[in-house]
Amino acid sequence: MDLLIGSGLAAFTIYAAAKWNKSDKEKIQHTFRNLNYKIKDKEPKHLKTHRTDQYSLYTYHVPYGLVDDEKLQVLEKVLDRPVKVSFEKGKLHIKVYNKKLGTKYAYDLFKPKGKWTIPIGMSQDGLVYHDFDLIPHMTVAGATTQGKTQFMKMFVTHLIENNPEGVEFYILDLKGKLAFNKYRNLKQIKAIAGNYGDSAITLKEVKKSIQSDMDYLLSIDAENAKEGNVKTRKFIIVDEAGELQTDKYMSDADKEHIKECHRTLSHIARVAGQLRYSLIFGTQYPTKEILDPQIKANSLAKVSFRLSTAVQSGVALDQTGAETLEYVGRAIYKTIDEHIIQTPFITKDDIWERIGRYEDVSSTNETANQGRSDTFTIG
Ligand SMILES: Nc1ncnc2c1ncn2[C@@H]1O[C@H](COP(=O)(O)OP(=O)(O)O)[C@@H](O)[C@H]1O
Ligand SMILES: [Mg+2]
Repeated sequence: MDLLIGSGLAAFTIYAAAKWNKSDKEKIQHTFRNLNYKIKDKEPKHLKTHRTDQYSLYTYHVPYGLVDDEKLQVLEKVLDRPVKVSFEKGKLHIKVYNKKLGTKYAYDLFKPKGKWTIPIGMSQDGLVYHDFDLIPHMTVAGATTQGKTQFMKMFVTHLIENNPEGVEFYILDLKGKLAFNKYRNLKQIKAIAGNYGDSAITLKEVKKSIQSDMDYLLSIDAENAKEGNVKTRKFIIVDEAGELQTDKYMSDADKEHIKECHRTLSHIARVAGQLRYSLIFGTQYPTKEILDPQIKANSLAKVSFRLSTAVQSGVALDQTGAETLEYVGRAIYKTIDEHIIQTPFITKDDIWERIGRYEDVSSTNETANQGRSDTFTIG
């Protein structure tokens, strides 16, 4: 009896170990079967495996009519590692990464890359950057505390430090100017508006500047700012566009200011990208009302941190997924391609060390608004 029990246990142990040791390849094949990922009795056939230090790439022949399928995303859970499924040249590719993406990457990992190029974050495939000269406008969505403001401060810092003479910023910081206030006297910061009236005035100045740039380019027969060799790119940053909504308790003047802001932001998105203006449109509430269709259609770069619902993700990114992001600073960056990234982390002290030297102490930005002698005064 002892013997029998012993051998039974041994057999069980071997069986369990065999199950436990099932290779990723086998697990993938089982998953195909369980998901009924086949056509009639024809299943995908493993063709080859390519391994690197970062990942294993499994390539499959699939029967005609079968393509990549969202349901294959369960592989991420089955294998408990990041998985990318793609379908190219008639073959199915399943890339299984060796490690999960980390939850914090220090900013100094990201080396500068070009005049108006910023780090976006670390992806499973390495560093990801965004070039505003290629894609001028960007929307940044994400529920509160997920990393929007810190992302904006990070890239403002990056641009000022690496291209101090080639960038200017106009910031609508409607949560009482708290987030960007410390930077108000930097020479590259042309305005920080903390209320509706100042926002309208700031955007009016931007609109004027667009018109005069257009006139200049026309006068030299240049088709765009690149041809006209325009040296600076102007960034219009809206930290929380949700604050730019009218309600019945507002004064008529504020309602008018808000409408004016919307008109100008939409104008910037439509006409100013080629003139070296970039609109960065941030919101924690990506709804159709807040994310103006013109702005969305002209913002070919989209960043989204975690959002509350799949519907919001649909508005922000035209796809679901942002509602499943798990960590602060984790975001989906979407242009033609799409990456899941962890945005670079930078501390306040580090920001100041890098750009504090551009503070112009003679500047008289003590009032609510950030007028500068070399640009304009508002308020
Ligand atoms: N990329 C990041 N990596 C790690 N932690 C981050 C990152 N971005 C933000 N955080 C943390 O989250 C907090 C909230 O970020 P913040 O940008 O203010 O959020 P939001 O503007 O979306 O409300 C920050 O104070 C910081 O501690
Ligand atoms: Mg914020």
